[in-house]
Amino acid sequence: MSTTSPTLDIGALQRLRILCISETGWFDTTTVFDDIRAAGGAQTDQYAIPWPPFGALHADNAAGFSALLEAEATDGSVRRVLFDTGWNPDWMDRRFADEGIDRLLQERRIEALIISHEHFDHFWGISSTLKHYPGIPIYIPEGFHPAGLAFIRQQGHSGTLSTVSSEQPLLLFPGLAVASFPMSTLLQVQGENVVYARLRDQGMAMITGCGHGGVLNLLDYSRRTFSGGERIHAIYGGLHLSPLEDWDSQRDQIVKALSDYGIARIGCNHCTGQTAVRKMLASGLPVQRGTASKGSQTDLFLGNGDVLQLG
Ligand SMILES: [Fe+2]
Ligand SMILES: [Fe+2]
Repeated sequence: MSTTSPTLDIGALQRLRILCISETGWFDTTTVFDDIRAAGGAQTDQYAIPWPPFGALHADNAAGFSALLEAEATDGSVRRVLFDTGWNPDWMDRRFADEGIDRLLQERRIEALIISHEHFDHFWGISSTLKHYPGIPIYIPEGFHPAGLAFIRQQGHSGTLSTVSSEQPLLLFPGLAVASFPMSTLLQVQGENVVYARLRDQGMAMITGCGHGGVLNLLDYSRRTFSGGERIHAIYGGLHLSPLEDWDSQRDQIVKALSDYGIARIGCNHCTGQTAVRKMLASGLPVQRGTASKGSQTDLFLGNGDVLQLG
């Protein structure tokens, strides 16, 4: 990533409410990785795997990652963006209905869809969004594949599609920016968007889909890019620390390093890994527990229907 001014002023929000619509990318990890192995392994093109919505392979195991960001400006006005749109349209339709996301989309009270990255569990459920608001502006990271771009068109998208440049963050509105990080990971997926919001009195909030770029790298980006970015108030999302529940000393070092940031609120879910959250709690990090309901399987994660209220 090229250098940007360390004093980039993105403005500030009064409050940010993060609703976890769904953090259960899938229900059984062994099934997903068996499917990947059977399709040819970690370097397989994800579009070659006949999971929903392209096929019916283990459809009952497919869910998705999606969150609603509700940003309140200092004048009291509220703006909403959807962060990812999940995987299995059947599951996402149900979660959207349960949380009133369908209505918000129909009434155009959600103004944009940010796709963190192209992974199936964050992106393949896009029909659940577009059926309610085909013209919704969409923001993708650099690195999307032609198959992903074609999929967006095929699902009837009629609005603007913008690729966030990895050269500089995109200011969506005062207080909230999207940064695109080059990365290359499982199933040939490249590029990840991360949301950085600044809260007037507390500091920065960082929202990740998977955090494939590495949580410390992503936090350091905030420090060196944004005015006030050295003060990290909160993290929300998938941190990809122990998605397969394995552990090693390198990951101990990451947890140890996290403690030095002085973070006040942490909402972990999705691919963070329960092992990682237990380690974080043991080292005194302020992880907010979830309710383990609506399909979420552990209270270590901020789960489906749970809220992280900031500001
Ligand atoms: Fe993930
Ligand atoms: Fe991912």
